Amino acid sequence: MIPDTNHPNPGALRWLWQERRTSTMPVDQSGVWRFRDLLPILQSPENPVTLREGNTPLYDLPRSSKALGIDFLLAKHQGISNPTGSFKDTGMTAALSVAAERKFEWVACASTGNTSASMAAYAARAGLRSIVLIPEGKIAWGKLSQSMDYGAVTLQLRTDFDGCVRILSDLLKRLPIYLLNSVNPYRAEGQKTAAFELIEQLEWQVPEHVLVPGGNLANGAALGKGFREMLDLGLVSRVPRISVIQAEGANPLFRSLQENGGEELIPVEADTRASAIRIGNPASFRKAVSTIHSTGGWCEQVSEQEIALAKAEIGAEGIGCEPASAATLAGLKKLVASGRITREERVVLILTGHTLKDPEYTINYHRGTLLDDAEMASAITSDLALHRVLQRPPVVLDPDVDSVLHIIESVLRYPVLA
Ligand code: F0G
Repeated sequence: MIPDTNHPNPGALRWLWQERRTSTMPVDQSGVWRFRDLLPILQSPENPVTLREGNTPLYDLPRSSKALGIDFLLAKHQGISNPTGSFKDTGMTAALSVAAERKFEWVACASTGNTSASMAAYAARAGLRSIVLIPEGKIAWGKLSQSMDYGAVTLQLRTDFDGCVRILSDLLKRLPIYLLNSVNPYRAEGQKTAAFELIEQLEWQVPEHVLVPGGNLANGAALGKGFREMLDLGLVSRVPRISVIQAEGANPLFRSLQENGGEELIPVEADTRASAIRIGNPASFRKAVSTIHSTGGWCEQVSEQEIALAKAEIGAEGIGCEPASAATLAGLKKLVASGRITREERVVLILTGHTLKDPEYTINYHRGTLLDDAEMASAITSDLALHRVLQRPPVVLDPDVDSVLHIIESVLRYPVLA
């Protein structure tokens, strides 16, 4: 029989991907291009615009796992190892490589901060000019500083993310700019490789659940595509349920699924301190609905108080993340409480951004100025107690050792997290 050369052999692929890890070539060291056999997007795939993205760690979360009574709980931290500190780099290396190959001079995006940081870095690397449209006053400082550092034309528009998207589409009608928003199909191609990497890290075992935070709703769908391709190639025998977690104040997917089963998008006026997912009119709504339905996942919404607590818990595990990422742990608690995720099942949270992206949020939380009284009042008693244990406000002291000892003694009275 003649072998089907269009259909790669799963065993050969696993071996090849593993082998490339030992290579010193940038294209092999990239956690995206290492999987280039499933990324048929470049004329010369040996020469992408890469910053050695991907290869992100998979951590266990022993305290959260114990608190939830789940044995198998892991976090794939895409904020760590990726060059600009978020999962956006895995998609940006792909899309920016296409822009460079097609000889575009300008690239642009509207963003809540991470896409813009990533685009600016990869554009700088490729010698392209970049334009960033971001909502004024509504993105985290770490992200804003990155787009300036990498030399993007940084435009802060007096509107929200959805308003930035509208202006960007008008701009595209007037200038030959390559669009790098999440509707760009090559970004999804790059982002899907996180699914390959995850399953490879799990030695080709598939977890029952993967939870992602939802904003413009592209990432859950990109991961879903990655899992489906693995299934089609025979690399795995099933796919995980993919669930999307939204902030209560930016919940168009949650509302639409509740009110019309996801038939039609109900846009909302978005408001959440998890600024990365402050999006009311998500571009990839249809894809997210189809990913949830086809994998048997759910959409859950979580409050500001629940996100803040989950973020502090992830911080206390020694890894930290940005607020949007913490929505996954908050959502997991709800899905466990409602019985949709059972304690024997294996769960992976996708943490999308580094904790240093939004230091202001973290500082405000620990100083006790993040959440207002009504939000704190919404917390159940055990969560209130947990907030008290986790909050570590900085203490300003005179340079006097007795004062320092006094503080240490008072800290010793706090319960230690087991
Ligand atoms: N987490 C983080 C840290 C993000 O930056 C984003 C999106 C998401 C989650 C949601 O992913 O949009 O695919 O559902 N940030 C975009 C941006 C919108 O402009 O940086 P999504």
